[in-house]
Amino acid sequence: MTEAPTAPAFTTRRASGCPFDPPPTTSRLREEGPLARVSLWNGSTAWLVTRHSDQVAVLRDPRISADNRRPGYPSISAAGEATRAHNRTFLTMDEPEHAAQRRRFTGDFTVKRMQAMRPRIERIVTELLDAMEEAGPPADLVTGFALPLPSLVICELLGVPYEDHGFFQRASAVIVDTRSTPGDALTASQELTDYLSALVAAKAREPGDDLLSRMATQQYATGQSTLDECAKQARLLLVAGHETTANMIALGTCALLRNPDQLAAVRDGGPERVAGAVEELLRYLTITHMGRRRTATEDIEIGGQLVRAGDAVICAADLANRDPEVFGDPDRLDVDRQARGHLAFGSGPHQCLGQNLARAELQLAYPTLLRRFPGLRLARPLDEIPFRDDMAVYGVHELPVAW
Ligand code: HEM
Repeated sequence: MTEAPTAPAFTTRRASGCPFDPPPTTSRLREEGPLARVSLWNGSTAWLVTRHSDQVAVLRDPRISADNRRPGYPSISAAGEATRAHNRTFLTMDEPEHAAQRRRFTGDFTVKRMQAMRPRIERIVTELLDAMEEAGPPADLVTGFALPLPSLVICELLGVPYEDHGFFQRASAVIVDTRSTPGDALTASQELTDYLSALVAAKAREPGDDLLSRMATQQYATGQSTLDECAKQARLLLVAGHETTANMIALGTCALLRNPDQLAAVRDGGPERVAGAVEELLRYLTITHMGRRRTATEDIEIGGQLVRAGDAVICAADLANRDPEVFGDPDRLDVDRQARGHLAFGSGPHQCLGQNLARAELQLAYPTLLRRFPGLRLARPLDEIPFRDDMAVYGVHELPVAW
């Protein structure tokens, strides 16, 4: 890989006062061209793919690898680099291994299965809002609603005891924090894997009606997967299942509170309008702001530029989702636009496995919250809200609200 000392640093730091917009430096790179050379935290360089159409092509190209064990792989941080060998799941496998592993879980996340979960999600939403109302304002929307909702749902689906949420939420937070030391990230990762290994082993002895029990009996007990492999896939589902949706709920609410006309549309809209609004919030906010990380396995052309075998490639979904060629007036939050086609869930074989679950949760969370508390407002000025610039998943650390 040729080093380019002048390459601008890849950054996820937003401009002050613009917490919902991609960082100005990367936005400028999109205006300059389809591909930009950027330097990463460890001094290595990567190609930043800035446009929607090129990203879709790259993410579907079999000459582009998601395998994080490849030498040129662009890790997001020192912690990510230290844990990459330890984190082997289908998220970072290539075909045909990826499809074979992923297929074992697709039946658990179909639209139909998620449709069937809606009444249960609705009950959880109602119970959390009841508790918030009873405790009275002010409240932190993250700890009171945004984080427990997806955590409770994924716990039920997997068969993880929710009383352990303090432990797994803390460990997940260390794993997704780009400032974590390699040692802390490794420890958190190992603790979570050990915890889930013990759980899968227990379920092999005494299965229940949940995803980990099916994994234990159909994969571990049959010798199809080792206990460690099961635990790592379970860790992927547990972390991805609560970190992402929690941040979408809190950040989405924050964005709506800053755009009262859009908020009214979500609060008063029917299911179809709300579903459209969720897609728009996913597009506009693109919380997985570190980009899809890949390596080229052959020389290929992207956006008219030759990319050499072994080069690192980052598809910046936040830029694709603001690409004016695809979304008119892209920097405006417009819940009535057709935002389908956004890349918030990725594209190609690794496209989010849990997207139907995330949609079901978000479609219920926003309108129910806004109808319950019609006077919902930020309890602190926007510039005092702690945004998650340094976390692998963007959002807010806390969201003080009153009503
Ligand atoms: C708003 C919420 C969510 C967002 C924005 C999101 C985003 C993403 C993105 C961008 C990817 C692609 C990664 C890549 O190409 O490298 C992905 C993959 C994945 N997501 Fe999600 N996700 C969300 C919710 C969930 C939920 C609720 C689950 C439930 C378990 C989940 C499980 C997964 C898994 C297992 C993968 C790996 C798929 C594969 O490699 O084949 N996600 N997600």
